[in-house]
Amino acid sequence: MKINKLTIRGCQYAYLDQGHGIPWLFLHGFPLDHRMWLPVVERMSSAVRAVVPDLRGFGQSEATAGVVTMAEFADDLAALLDALKIQQPAVVCGLSMGGYIAFEFYFRHKRRVAGLVLCDTRAAADSPEMAQLRQATAQRVLQEGPAFLADSMLPRLLAPVTFQQQPAIAEQLRQQIQSANPAGVAAAALGMAQRRDMQPLLSEITCPTLVLVGTEDVISPPAEMQAFAQAIPKAKFVTIPDAGHMAPLENPGLVTTAFLEFLDLVASGLEDR
Ligand code: MLT
Repeated sequence: MKINKLTIRGCQYAYLDQGHGIPWLFLHGFPLDHRMWLPVVERMSSAVRAVVPDLRGFGQSEATAGVVTMAEFADDLAALLDALKIQQPAVVCGLSMGGYIAFEFYFRHKRRVAGLVLCDTRAAADSPEMAQLRQATAQRVLQEGPAFLADSMLPRLLAPVTFQQQPAIAEQLRQQIQSANPAGVAAAALGMAQRRDMQPLLSEITCPTLVLVGTEDVISPPAEMQAFAQAIPKAKFVTIPDAGHMAPLENPGLVTTAFLEFLDLVASGLEDR
């Protein structure tokens, strides 16, 4: 798959753009890059126009020093859609940090959203302790690079069965984390620490929404995700077996099935508009 590059709001963004149909924006988690979506994108590219960026500061996209807020990421993505001349409403699909950005995208660019897909993510803001931990992470990653994050995060990213039966996924994630850009990782960690609490706003999300989680996710547990899905008027809640926090990588077949069913729902809603 060919990586393209474009300058968006002063930052060189790397992204994939492939397929035809309803635009579907795939937003990766922290501190990863677009590659976490490839198994699903390969399965879906005959059904949608998949736009899969490396977010500012990740993968092959340029980093910005300081803080990058979820709102800034969301505005980058609206500018990316403009640059690609995509004016038609898109499905905005984010995993974990990508989900935090998808929430912001919805509230800042509502008319551009045909449907929202929230994977393995949280609606709540950080607790004060978590926000403090992010500050420490940002400082440490700037001093010594991201390798320590691979050791601390990896055990919590995948289901036990994935470590046993698909060890290559763990290796792939370790490699992605270790090669992440320290400035980009620090800026996004500080941005996540500042993100707003979406819980009071959930009832205002009126587009079709899919809330999806791996049954073994310990970072954004199924019970917490089910509770926030219930607060979103048109949300469907789906659990993916044999998967943890990285459900789209761990069980891409079932995730794609859930996405394609959701796409039918979104497409029928667009016909009624
Ligand atoms: C992610 O996967 O993006 C992270 O777990 C998000 C977070 O640290 O809150």
